Amino acid sequence: MLTWTDLNICLPRTLFLLALLGRVSSLKECLILQSAEGRTVSCYGPTEFPSSLPADTVHLSVEFSNLTQLPAAALQGCPGLRELHLSSNRLQALSPGLLAPAPRLRVLDLTHNALRSLPPGLFRTSAALRTLVLRKNQLPAASAQWLQGLDALGHLDLAENQLRSLPAGFLLSLGALHTLDLGYNLLESLPEGLLRGPRRLQRLHLEGNRLRRLGDGLLAPQPFLRVLFLNDNQLAAVAADSFRGLKQLDMLDLSNNSLSSTPPGLWAFLGRPTRDMQDGFDVSHNPWVCDTDLADLCRWLDANRRKMFSQNDTRCAGPEAVRGRRLLDVAELGSL
Ligand SMILES: *[C@@H]1O[C@H](CO)[C@@H](O)[C@H](O)[C@H]1NC(C)=O
Ligand SMILES: *[C@@H]1O[C@H](CO)[C@@H](O)[C@H](O)[C@H]1NC(C)=O
Ligand SMILES: *[C@@H]1O[C@H](CO)[C@@H](O)[C@H](O)[C@H]1NC(C)=O
Repeated sequence: MLTWTDLNICLPRTLFLLALLGRVSSLKECLILQSAEGRTVSCYGPTEFPSSLPADTVHLSVEFSNLTQLPAAALQGCPGLRELHLSSNRLQALSPGLLAPAPRLRVLDLTHNALRSLPPGLFRTSAALRTLVLRKNQLPAASAQWLQGLDALGHLDLAENQLRSLPAGFLLSLGALHTLDLGYNLLESLPEGLLRGPRRLQRLHLEGNRLRRLGDGLLAPQPFLRVLFLNDNQLAAVAADSFRGLKQLDMLDLSNNSLSSTPPGLWAFLGRPTRDMQDGFDVSHNPWVCDTDLADLCRWLDANRRKMFSQNDTRCAGPEAVRGRRLLDVAELGSL
């Protein structure tokens, strides 16, 4: 963290550097800061990608600049680059060799661009990449080859694209993945084996898609999953063994789906009596039919009510006699 003393020391030097480098026309819109690790170059609003970057650039941001393309050799000459932030441009495509000159890259942020595809082999030399953010692009489909080479990738964000389906082997090479965000796409189903590959997934975002069914096998390979978002889908069925493999789930959001009941045994793997969920769960805004088929869920709700979110919005849609009643109240009465 910078303190005032640090700033007093840094500032004159920074100004000096700016004065020096300001003469290189392509870095005019860039602020350059020096640290022990190397230089941080932040550019806002340049009309083209800066050329002649300092050779010791470790952190480069060219954001909010409406760039539509990057030169194929954009990163040539900064072999120590660790972070590249390119959010809020209008990039439509990337050249396959773009990242080859920067094998130490750890963070690549391409949020809010216009990417419709990724070139095969883009990450062939990206074994150090930890974080890849492709949120808010226009990717309509994903290829199983895209992510090859990302041996160290921990965080993959593909939210807010237009993905309709994913190939079965999509994540196969991502052994280190801990956080996966596929939220707010157009996914209607997922291949059963999608999550084979990552060995310790902790957070999974699937909210805001069009998923209709959760199958037995999807979550099975992920015993360390802690946080699971499935809200805002069209789930009408959740298979009885869906949660069987989950040993440490602390947050589950199933709100705003089309569930009218759940199969017997589904809830046995979560929460009490085995363990408390640390954060909680939400099953509100589903058309629950509070008849004997729901008795299993209601008993579980009663035992886990301390961890239940949106209690007031979790109500019976039927049958007629209890329509509009809170599930918790029905559960409490033991009337099922
Ligand atoms: C980018 O485009 C938007 C919309 O056309 C415009 O408002 C903004 O000023 C542009 N930004 C730059 C840095 O040119
Ligand atoms: C429910 O999810 C849909 C998308 O599936 C969304 O459009 C809607 O706003 C959500 N409703 C609530 C109450 O969150
Ligand atoms: C619960 O919902 C009812 C009606 O739907 C409303 O009148 C009441 O204020 C709500 N209570 C809370 C605590 O939100």
